[in-house]
Amino acid sequence: MTDNHIEVAAARQQPSQDAEASAALERAQTLLGRMTSAEKIGQLHQVNGGYSELEQQIRDGNVGSVINEVRMDTLNELQRIACEESRLGIPLLIGRDVIHGFRTIFPIPLGQAAAWDTQLIETCARVAAIEAASVGVNWTFAPMLDVSRDPRWGRIAESLSEDPYLCSHLGAAMVRGFQGDDLSQPGAIAACAKHFAGYGAVEGGIDYNTTNIPEIELRSTYLPSFKAALDAGAVTVMASFTDLNGVPATANEFLMQQVLRKEWGFGGFVVSDWDSIVQLSVHGLTANDAESALAAFDSGINMDMNSGVYSRNLGAALAAGAISETQLDAMVEPILATKFRLGLFENAYCDPASFPAAVNHDHRELAKQAAMKSCVLLKNANNTLPLLRETITSLAVIGPLADDGYEQLGTWVFDGDAADSITALAALQTALAPAITIHSARGVENTRSHNTDGFDAAIEAARQADSVVMFVGEEAILSGEAHCRADINLPGAQVQLIEAISELGKPLTLVIMAGRPLTLSNVIDKVDAILYAWHPGTMAGPAIADLLFGVSAPSAKLPVTFPRVVGQIPIYYGHKNTGKPPSHDTITSMEAIDNRAPQTSLGMSAFYLDAGFTPLFPFGFGLSYSRFEYRDLSLSAATLLPTDEIKVQVTLQNTGPCAAEEIVQLYIRDLVASVTRPVKELKGFQKHYLQSGASIRVEFSLSRSDLMFCNRHMEWVTEPGDFRVWVGGCSDTEMSADFRLEA
Ligand code: NOJ
Repeated sequence: MTDNHIEVAAARQQPSQDAEASAALERAQTLLGRMTSAEKIGQLHQVNGGYSELEQQIRDGNVGSVINEVRMDTLNELQRIACEESRLGIPLLIGRDVIHGFRTIFPIPLGQAAAWDTQLIETCARVAAIEAASVGVNWTFAPMLDVSRDPRWGRIAESLSEDPYLCSHLGAAMVRGFQGDDLSQPGAIAACAKHFAGYGAVEGGIDYNTTNIPEIELRSTYLPSFKAALDAGAVTVMASFTDLNGVPATANEFLMQQVLRKEWGFGGFVVSDWDSIVQLSVHGLTANDAESALAAFDSGINMDMNSGVYSRNLGAALAAGAISETQLDAMVEPILATKFRLGLFENAYCDPASFPAAVNHDHRELAKQAAMKSCVLLKNANNTLPLLRETITSLAVIGPLADDGYEQLGTWVFDGDAADSITALAALQTALAPAITIHSARGVENTRSHNTDGFDAAIEAARQADSVVMFVGEEAILSGEAHCRADINLPGAQVQLIEAISELGKPLTLVIMAGRPLTLSNVIDKVDAILYAWHPGTMAGPAIADLLFGVSAPSAKLPVTFPRVVGQIPIYYGHKNTGKPPSHDTITSMEAIDNRAPQTSLGMSAFYLDAGFTPLFPFGFGLSYSRFEYRDLSLSAATLLPTDEIKVQVTLQNTGPCAAEEIVQLYIRDLVASVTRPVKELKGFQKHYLQSGASIRVEFSLSRSDLMFCNRHMEWVTEPGDFRVWVGGCSDTEMSADFRLEA
């Protein structure tokens, strides 16, 4: 079914894990009986590493977790103090942002998502966990499960998709990768489903901004990925910085109690985001820290990340009767249970000898595979790619990101080292010398620079070459937390540089490295090919070199929609139809409007006069060096009984010149329902590797659970009636068949 050669241990939430969770809970309850109130409050306190009184605080039983300390010797010493010098010997949770790799850096999450490969993403998370555990980290703040439909938001780099289905499947795979089958095994670390919830809907794409999400939309779009991650066994959750419908997540009882604990039965614990409890008064929800501590505690935030407000205020709240010992116990219990599940009471120390070296050959190979499978071929006019060794003798490699081992790593690289990176220029030199001469020039100092002094050298390099590849995009720091952009064109003088080079008329390929979808309308017609590489990580160079020269064919598909212009945002494939949907006959140009044309609503529809209604590239889009044909869509039945399944089959043939991998996508639409439904919803995907000329019959199953939706009463239901199903290589596929769900 897939050509993914990387093995991954089957890691699924199993009944044995339930038994082990209950045993951990019992041990936690017994331990609680021996703890003082102060020691319990200590367990709720997460402290930043390097804090001057940290050791004494741990000795006194006032710290439950440490964040941002990754020196192995220091961590072992902190664990020794906790286990041997504190009264009850309770070990520490050691948290770290291990988001897309630890030392070996994989593509940013949005890039990994473009591979649509659960096995690959699970394996990357597994390797990240092993490398992190090898220094003593036992808890990562990942996966980020925030569905996002706004590429201005810098944190879209960390998102897995605009789509709840894709985000759910990839997020669950990451959880399995981090946690493995058994959290107590070496190399397994606790996952954290974040940021609960709705963070991806920040107004205007500005980080930390307000979110207003109707409950039906929250449940339909933003919550499913969290539910999937918890079903996969994620033992912790992080509250979002944001306020949701007027109540900050960090004090949001609806989210933390109603949804998380009551409806979903979550038995793990919730950590605040960094200082998000003290920030409750900045939001204007509380008047002071004491009130903030109470508001967060009452809503069900178990652990205070960094701020110290729990540590400073909960003792007094307990003494004043504002919180009870029973409530306190309930907050501490899942934290202790997690420590038991991680096996920390048996052994809290890290022994590097039991781990492979970081950034070893296998980890690098995996990083290369991941990078290769995440690059999306967006344009390939006249088969510009792959470049053929036989037909070129010289290649120009131009641009600020061609040879920058740091910028290719992406946003969350606390522990990655640019010295481990192999850049595209280095990889191309290794692969091509001496047969093909490389002429290289940066053109601009960095992606933001407006200085054009380097243009002449770049133009000269291009002039000397048979073919030109330009490495442009965004530096890593232009995306990620708090790095949002209102204009998402290529920054600086890069567009000018592309224009100048394109005038030479040489075959011109752009390799774009970026933390978000960029708007490419102003360059797309000036270049022959575009390979969208996101920030590909440590092994960007070898991966891109192989793709450019056809050692492998690109197979990735977009996990988010690419707008034509920023004003189209939010633009996503799973929108509602509206009562006035546009069609391809719609006039989408201001110039086509007659002078003094009278205002009318007749025949009007939902679109922009100056940007139309289609994106530049739709969700699920991605080209290959080969071609795939879909035909003979068939359903096993015209009606689906509630307890039955429908088999959806299609023939997939590789009709192009080379072996390649295709991501086959299945979408449905509920044609009539008691609430308006998206025009398309992803409900299945598969990857198939086919030799040139080969064909297979691809089969999906649809059952009633795939057709469920959230109704006006916030219940997940199906309604009998007509459905349409599409199968193809992109969300804009038109091949469809209809069936009926019976009552
Ligand atoms: C703030 C971020 O929002 C969160 O994702 C991260 O895990 C914490 N800081 C800890 O660094």
